[in-house]
Amino acid sequence: EFGFRGQVTLDGPSGTGKSSVARAVATRLGADYLDTGAMYRAATVAVLDAGVDLDDADGITRAVAAADIRIGTSAAAELVLVDGVDVAERIRGAEVTRAVSPVSAVPAVRRLLVDRQRALVAAADAVVVEGRDIGTVVLPDATCKIYLTAAPEVRAERRAGQLGVSDPARIAQIAADLRRRDEYDSSRADSPLRPAEDAIVVDSTGLDREAVVERVLDLAGTAVGDP
Ligand code: DC
Repeated sequence: EFGFRGQVTLDGPSGTGKSSVARAVATRLGADYLDTGAMYRAATVAVLDAGVDLDDADGITRAVAAADIRIGTSAAAELVLVDGVDVAERIRGAEVTRAVSPVSAVPAVRRLLVDRQRALVAAADAVVVEGRDIGTVVLPDATCKIYLTAAPEVRAERRAGQLGVSDPARIAQIAADLRRRDEYDSSRADSPLRPAEDAIVVDSTGLDREAVVERVLDLAGTAVGDP
């Protein structure tokens, strides 16, 4: 695309198409890709397998600190290992999705994972990083900060589409779950979900994925002074 060097951050709630946009943008820029949500999900696997209670912040922190969590940084292939076991599929399941918000709300867990995120980013010339707090906390000096949103109904329908669900009552349930998780992620004390002051808000309601990808590529190009 162009010789992009720097960091593109992509934050926002779930169901905005953030991951597929982030992957596509990384591929088009020839950049690395870091899915920080996958890191919190992998940490959650370690917590669940350790049998720690989700109210026990110290136990959660110990379990995460003791686990060997590895995340790949290629947009082409997802790599997520916990203690050498491939958990790329398991982290997308209902059990992990239910437990990930309380795990990611523990400040000591965030400190551990944010340090690793910064180390992975520092090793890359060009990288697209997606999450909730990348522009606000992890990389406040990033080259290009995007906050991706979409109307709640649209997000619920996209999620339902991914899960192959068409029953309106189940779509309403998915919408309620999304709202609950966003509410939790936005109201936690440490690094809540919110746009950075200097982030550009992109609303994907009514846009297809390719249009969002083009918009983000434009913004990344502008940020590095590409005409
Ligand atoms: O993007 P995702 O759905 O895979 O993220 C899973 C959870 O991890 C989400 O509910 C909030 C948390 N998360 C976070 O707290 N900070 C990040 N940078 C990324 C994800």
